[in-house]
Amino acid sequence: MRLSLAMSASTSGAAFVLLLGGCDGPQSALQSAGRGADAIATLFYWMAAGAVVVWVVVIGLALYAMRARPGRHGEGTGMLIIGGGVLFPTTLLAILLSFALALIPDLLAPAPKNSLRIEVIGHQWWWRVRYQPPDAAPFELANEIRLPVDEPVEFRLRSADVIHSFWIPSLGGKMDVFPGRVTRLALHPTRTGVFRGVCAEYCGTAHALMSFYAVVEGREDFVRWMQREAKPAVTPQERLAIRGAELFLVHGCGACHNVRGTAADGVVGPDLTHVGSRLSLGAGILPNDVDSFLRWIARTETVKPGVHMPAFGMLPSDDLRALAAYLDALE
Ligand code: CUA
Repeated sequence: MRLSLAMSASTSGAAFVLLLGGCDGPQSALQSAGRGADAIATLFYWMAAGAVVVWVVVIGLALYAMRARPGRHGEGTGMLIIGGGVLFPTTLLAILLSFALALIPDLLAPAPKNSLRIEVIGHQWWWRVRYQPPDAAPFELANEIRLPVDEPVEFRLRSADVIHSFWIPSLGGKMDVFPGRVTRLALHPTRTGVFRGVCAEYCGTAHALMSFYAVVEGREDFVRWMQREAKPAVTPQERLAIRGAELFLVHGCGACHNVRGTAADGVVGPDLTHVGSRLSLGAGILPNDVDSFLRWIARTETVKPGVHMPAFGMLPSDDLRALAAYLDALE
């Protein structure tokens, strides 16, 4: 009996360590890099500690029951059942519940006035991101968010189609994104780094392929990035990319995509003005390089089942290569 208990305890310990190993990386709520995530991680540890205490008490009572001799029991046993089975769990759960409820006002508090404001619009299955800098013209990008460290930011969220949920686990809690309604989420990053965000509400076929990156950086780097991002697209210099720019208009890509400073001014799909400088393609699913552009344009459906962008695999391979070279050059 003792041996099997000791074995089960050591197995649980090993499983716990293995599970915690999975809480690492750029998409972990326990590797917090923001005030909201700090509060949520603290709550998690308190809840986990409470669960351990409940587990120890329940196992203790079970062991006691197994060892107790059959027969009539005295008042002590009755008190043990009422104390351990009713009073103890009720009190502990009430304490944990009030601890959790006390966090909610902070997590839902709006960002201070004059905070950086970013509008995010959820689409099946990508994110449109609009910056509205106080001293410059607004600009748009997709599937990437940059934030200055140690500054509050307010997200204004809405959806173009179905319900999504905006979540950057390392920075804070999640917020649902609805069509026809604006929800707000205030975040306050406290550490620089590259973090991964996801859609946390099932929204259709490619729900799991609707990610983005959130880059938290120093104020100077952030301002430099914003100034570059607000500019129109660079003019391609290389022969293949120049040809790609022409084909982009000839094949009608500009009907859906905007490349600021060119005749491509579509508003249906992601803004591609600086797509070559982003951390990923296809909403966090492909690395950003020429091969990935090629693969994406030619076979969208195999890369992201359900995607609304048609595949252009029927184009001659030279045209596909030129288009990929052009998009890659849009730094
Ligand atoms: Cu959008 Cu799930």
